[in-house]
Amino acid sequence: MTRFIDLPIRIKFFGLMSLLLLVLLVATGIFTYQRQESFILKFAVDNARSFASQLIETRDYMSSVVKGEPEHNYNLVPQVVATQVARRVTQNSKFYVRQVSLRYRNPENRPDQYETAQLKAFAQNPTREVYDIVESDDTRSFRYMQPMLATASCLECHGTYESAPNFVKQRFPPGHFSYNYQVGEVIGAVSVTIPMKDLYAQLGANLQFDMIARGLVFLIVILVMAILMSRQVIDPVKRVSERIIRVTRTGDFHEKLPQKTHDEIGSLIGAFNDLMEELARKTLQSKESDERYRRFIELSGSAVVTFLKDGKIVIANQKAETLFGRSRQSLLGESIFSFLENGSALQEKLGTGEDAKEESSRQRVRGAGGKTKEVEMVISASKTDREPMFTAILREDRAPSS
Ligand code: HEC
Repeated sequence: MTRFIDLPIRIKFFGLMSLLLLVLLVATGIFTYQRQESFILKFAVDNARSFASQLIETRDYMSSVVKGEPEHNYNLVPQVVATQVARRVTQNSKFYVRQVSLRYRNPENRPDQYETAQLKAFAQNPTREVYDIVESDDTRSFRYMQPMLATASCLECHGTYESAPNFVKQRFPPGHFSYNYQVGEVIGAVSVTIPMKDLYAQLGANLQFDMIARGLVFLIVILVMAILMSRQVIDPVKRVSERIIRVTRTGDFHEKLPQKTHDEIGSLIGAFNDLMEELARKTLQSKESDERYRRFIELSGSAVVTFLKDGKIVIANQKAETLFGRSRQSLLGESIFSFLENGSALQEKLGTGEDAKEESSRQRVRGAGGKTKEVEMVISASKTDREPMFTAILREDRAPSS
């Protein structure tokens, strides 16, 4: 498996970048969602509270001004007025407003499970309001309740049976649980319900639009960076490395790259060009010095052979051709030791050339036609930075040996 670090920069960079931006997108999404949610909750609470307060005020007002009227017109009962007002006010909204009581007169005002629990809590401790997000079956709803306290005017109809107006007495027999309230007692509550999905509908749409817009911006950022990065960094670096590979293969140091900028990449290309120039100059110099050396050893009166530690001949002069009875071409690459009778012994003695010094010995050379000649062989080692090289001067004896 390829390690992450070995992947192309393009993939590493944009992989990480995309990941980062994705995390950012999700994080800002969550943040926005939370903010919008708390905003929406505040919106719901504010609206529910104002609905409830208005209803309670309406009822209080009605209760204090109506006297005998409901006797003839049931529609003027404070509860009935408040219900109608609530219905009209919430007509075009997703708010559902009810006025409920544990001891209801109208079964339509019977509290549900949540309302019952809250009414019981209000009876213990009448707080200003309560709200919650309530899960029931498969729907989540925002619920809000504000208690209604009985005032003296309410007791006209909600006090004792005896003191109630006739129309109330007729409808609700003695002993009905809707009588006998005290001033200050919780008589019921305004209850506001908003399905969460209606609240979220707006939020969700907003959030989706938001995320798409933000995603697009991030995408554009990534794309622009991708293009910039490729053009400015990756492509030029690739060109340099391809050029280096080619130069290594061909050995042609005259390769140059156009330097278009003066930034870091520009100076990399400049440095590459300088290096190529320097290498071209060095190679030329070394070729020249090789050439000088070759011409110089040609002048020598003895056979001169330069070889590597495995004996491989790399340079041989014309006298060597005569001595070994071979053309220069066929000598190059051969092992010097194969031309000596005691070649292997000499090879061992030279060893790796690590601690080489000048060696002088007498050797028998196998020349042309299998004839042997005795020579005085002087070997000097020179160590280049890589491999030891040996130069041998083979001097034939004046007197031919027998
Ligand atoms: C004129 C008589 C009258 C007065 C005054 C009056 N109510 Fe009622 N109230 C009724 C009647 C009648 C109903 C039943 C309405 C219906 O049929 O929907 C009722 C219903 C209610 C309900 C709904 C629960 C239920 O029993 O169905 C609440 C809550 C309530 N009244 C609170 C109050 C409060 C609080 C006051 C004082 C601010 C008050 N009422 C003043 C007559 C009165």
